[in-house]
Amino acid sequence: MNDPRLQSPAVARNRQPILEILQRVLPERARVLEVASGSGEHAVYLAGATPGWRWQPSDPSPRALASIAAWREAAGLANLLEPVELDVTGDWPSTPFEAVVAINLLHISPWAATEALLAGAGDALVPGGVLFLYGPFRREGRHTAPSNATFDADLRARDPRWGIRDLEEVTAAAGRHGLKLDKVVTMPSNNLSLVFRQSGQSTLIPAR
Ligand SMILES: C[S@@+](CC[C@H](N)C(=O)[O-])C[C@H]1O[C@@H](n2cnc3c(N)ncnc32)[C@H](O)[C@@H]1O
Repeated sequence: MNDPRLQSPAVARNRQPILEILQRVLPERARVLEVASGSGEHAVYLAGATPGWRWQPSDPSPRALASIAAWREAAGLANLLEPVELDVTGDWPSTPFEAVVAINLLHISPWAATEALLAGAGDALVPGGVLFLYGPFRREGRHTAPSNATFDADLRARDPRWGIRDLEEVTAAAGRHGLKLDKVVTMPSNNLSLVFRQSGQSTLIPAR
């Protein structure tokens, strides 16, 4: 029988550094929505390390959802919920969350997905809640490493709507949804962790 569990080699390298940041910025008890969970390996590792986090994995891809479900079943963790189908550009769960986590999504999706993620997280997070983003970013209009420039060109060749985002543009867009940049942490392989906090002060005018 086919094993639906997918494996991403990068996860083994980045999951522990990601866990250390999340443990610094999240409370011991937190409802966490992970978008773009992919294989589900981060969900199993991060939820497994912190029983007080109630971890909701999600992804729009049926293949990813099957993989997450299979990793979850094998792990048997009480605090790891069944994965839900979630495209950040669509409808979000109505539950409030203390954290929204997006690992390696922004550069592998159109800018509209980043805008939708920031709007969705702005709505879904409790005041003081954390939006955690992980991935490669440009800083002040420049790549942080030559390998990121090559990666960016490769992404844009695959889909012109994809590409490594500017930290300053993401921060400005986040601010429009009440999300204030709290921490920027350099991570292995020229990636960054960005920690935003919900300040409760959206600058968008609500629709009537
Ligand atoms: C590069 S993978 C990252 C997976 C995982 N977070 C990791 O780091 O291994 C990108 C993931 O984003 C998901 N994705 C793409 N567009 C999305 C969207 N609009 N909303 C939510 N997830 C999306 C894909 O299905 C895929 O699982």
